[in-house]
Amino acid sequence: VSPVVVGTTVRLRPEQRQAIEEVGPVRLVGPEGWPDILPEAEVLFAFDVTEADLERAVRLKWLQILSAGADRLPQAALRARGIRVTNVAGIHTEALSEHALLLMLALARRLPAAVRLMDARRWDQEPFRRLGTLAGKTALVVGYGAVGQGLVRRLEALDMTVRVVSRRPRRDGDIVVEGLDALDARLAEADWIILTLALTPETRGLFDAARLARVKPGARLVNVARGAIVDQDALVAALRAGRLAGAGLDVTSAEPLDPGHPLWTLSEVIITPHVGGRQEHYIDRAVAVFRENLRRYLAGEPFAREVDLIRGY
Ligand SMILES: NC(=O)c1ccc[n+]([C@@H]2O[C@H](COP(=O)([O-])OP(=O)(O)OC[C@H]3O[C@@H](n4cnc5c(N)ncnc54)[C@H](OP(=O)(O)O)[C@@H]3O)[C@@H](O)[C@H]2O)c1
Repeated sequence: VSPVVVGTTVRLRPEQRQAIEEVGPVRLVGPEGWPDILPEAEVLFAFDVTEADLERAVRLKWLQILSAGADRLPQAALRARGIRVTNVAGIHTEALSEHALLLMLALARRLPAAVRLMDARRWDQEPFRRLGTLAGKTALVVGYGAVGQGLVRRLEALDMTVRVVSRRPRRDGDIVVEGLDALDARLAEADWIILTLALTPETRGLFDAARLARVKPGARLVNVARGAIVDQDALVAALRAGRLAGAGLDVTSAEPLDPGHPLWTLSEVIITPHVGGRQEHYIDRAVAVFRENLRRYLAGEPFAREVDLIRGY
């Protein structure tokens, strides 16, 4: 049998290469062969592909991406060509839920004020007069995927009351997952709103001015998912009006966030530059997902988690 040609943009260590090659008859071509490999490749293992890449990849059948969100892919073209897409949702659970917690704790305990004081070598308790706790507060987690589930467990351990809204209502043990129709009612009760949902046509701009007007006054919003889920102008307005008491953002609607953007100037906003999923062994974990999917692909078995190009995630 002729080997399955796999093209990758990822610089793999020898043992990572070997882990892929030992799955079966594959010819793995690394970044040194990109983009020349595109016309031959049946499978791609890459963070991203462009529409132009796709046009060259005439034999492509399956794309394994190294992120959880498929929102940056040319989904219409992939759908039209019948190319299957798998993601690595699941490998970010620990890092991204810790990052969401970091943003929550840093806002609640006013860490940025302490860092500013440290820069000035100044001991001053004044900025910390109104510190709050997470314990006893209500958190609303929007999006009960791998990250949402990991975060809910952690928030419960911090003695928060946790509510969950996601696309598919369901029960998961003691957790009641409500559908999007419950979002507005839950928003009115939540002290913390944490976004861990996919960016899709349905969720783009989900948090617009009307929705942000429904939050409990003084609530805080944390977004570790995708910036475009939130209308950023409406977010700035809600923060300025004091409707929202703060925001922790690992993602913004345009990245990088423009240096002139007002979000940089608001004192109760913490911005991290889309690094929430980073962790040691990222590529090892992505390779493990790819390896298992490759085994299934060669055996004609269904993938463990496939992106639904109609739903968009
Ligand atoms: N900041 C970073 O560095 C970083 C890193 C990794 C991921 N992310 C983002 O975080 C998101 C979550 O990651 P994950 O690993 O948890 O992915 P995941 O397991 O695929 O979870 C995606 C979640 O989005 C929910 N969702 C989709 N459409 C929705 C809708 N219309 N209304 C409500 N919920 C909806 C899904 O709901 P159901 O469960 O109900 O189907 C699912 O719970 C990713 O999509 C990605 O955009 C960011």
